[in-house]
Amino acid sequence: MRINIAIDGPSAAGKSTVSDHLAQLLGYVHLDTGAMYRLVAYMALKDGLGLDDEEAIVTLMKKSKMEFKDNGEIYLNGIEVSDKIRTNEISMAASTVSKNPRVREALVALQKDIAKDKGYILDGRDIGTVVLKDAEVKIYLTASAEDRAKRRMIQNAAKGLKDDYEKLLKEIKDRDYQDMHRSVSPLKKADDAIEIDTSDLSQDEVVEAIYKIVKTKI
Ligand code: DC
Repeated sequence: MRINIAIDGPSAAGKSTVSDHLAQLLGYVHLDTGAMYRLVAYMALKDGLGLDDEEAIVTLMKKSKMEFKDNGEIYLNGIEVSDKIRTNEISMAASTVSKNPRVREALVALQKDIAKDKGYILDGRDIGTVVLKDAEVKIYLTASAEDRAKRRMIQNAAKGLKDDYEKLLKEIKDRDYQDMHRSVSPLKKADDAIEIDTSDLSQDEVVEAIYKIVKTKI
């Protein structure tokens, strides 16, 4: 039996990497919903739109071709932008753009449609509470802001990017606050989600813990 898995949590808690590994183990598809908000923020900034100009952003979304491939690659109007949406500037812009109800409505509809045949792992902020309310497995990944900032430093260093720890920590805290306090679908743990604090766990241990939970359902 194929099921759907919802993985939510604050930024840099390891959701994406863990979801990728899990998808490989299960032969499922991982959909990184944060990348969708990132793409919309990227498009809006590229076109010089205000991030709260909901009308203009929704119009731009309608006339743009947004592609989210099963292998994680992201294309805008036929051009690959997978790396361009991963900057610190786009991280905060994605959080800001995600406050617009109509942007959320359009992306949530797309996410629901993609996952309708089961066999999907969606990671984000509102997957267990809104997008896949009926997901068979719901996980809420957490870690302290300090641990997340350290992890992000290591990840970025591996990509050759230099970061300032204090700046990164502040960005993470600001984004947590914005994502948890917006009026539409704020980040929160679904009542039926299992919380895993990843602070003292390796990535493999987190994958293993979720894999065990999934195995009880399939
Ligand atoms: O997961 P991420 O850091 O790539 O997400 C970027 C931003 O997108 C995040 O700060 C809030 C928003 N987001 C959201 O509102 N809902 C989701 N399901 C996923 C991301």
